[in-house]
Amino acid sequence: MIKIAIFASGSGSNAENIAQYFSDKQEVEIPVIISNKAEAFVHQRAKQLGIESVTFSKKQFEETDEVANLLTERKIDFVVLAGFLLKVPANLLNNYPNRIVNIHPALLPKFGGKGMYGDRVHEAVVAAGEKESGITIHYINENYDEGDVIFQATCNVATSDTAHDVAEKVHALEYKYFPAIIEKAIAALPGTVSLDKIND
Ligand code: GAR
Repeated sequence: MIKIAIFASGSGSNAENIAQYFSDKQEVEIPVIISNKAEAFVHQRAKQLGIESVTFSKKQFEETDEVANLLTERKIDFVVLAGFLLKVPANLLNNYPNRIVNIHPALLPKFGGKGMYGDRVHEAVVAAGEKESGITIHYINENYDEGDVIFQATCNVATSDTAHDVAEKVHALEYKYFPAIIEKAIAALPGTVSLDKIND
């Protein structure tokens, strides 16, 4: 059994999609969703899904071991950032080496870095006149959006597309690919029996 914690700061549509994907899979459990925003809609989704959700302040993330302790108490093996906007602190990186993945709504290394999240990314893509955008799923390191890339998928950007249009295309890619890529990353963890094997 692999236990995943999802970190989310906003709407949580990816968190919900991931939770639904794994809901009928015996090998994976999502016991907790963690946020840095008490008012984020992800808490409503967590409630609907029957998943505990907890809020920690930026200060608690950055200056205490409270988040790390909660993850240890819940026996969390793997962390998924799904629209999480704080930098992951060193104590969590140390506890979860190659066990924290993020999704970025563009084709890194383009349109990444501090302050580049959500609609800001799509606005920048449109302003730059890009012909394509997409998603990047990557491991986390100490710098924003710089960890090893696991997977990218692209979509076209038409000259008439608004940032909202691009967001819709990118969200569709996120919903299609993120859960299965998480499943693959988990299956590749040292000491983990491949999920493909279990399903054979
Ligand atoms: C997603 O598009 C995700 O790629 C993006 O935030 C959105 C969250 O949507 N993440 C970043 O921009 C990280 N830099 P959601 O809350 O509906 O899942």
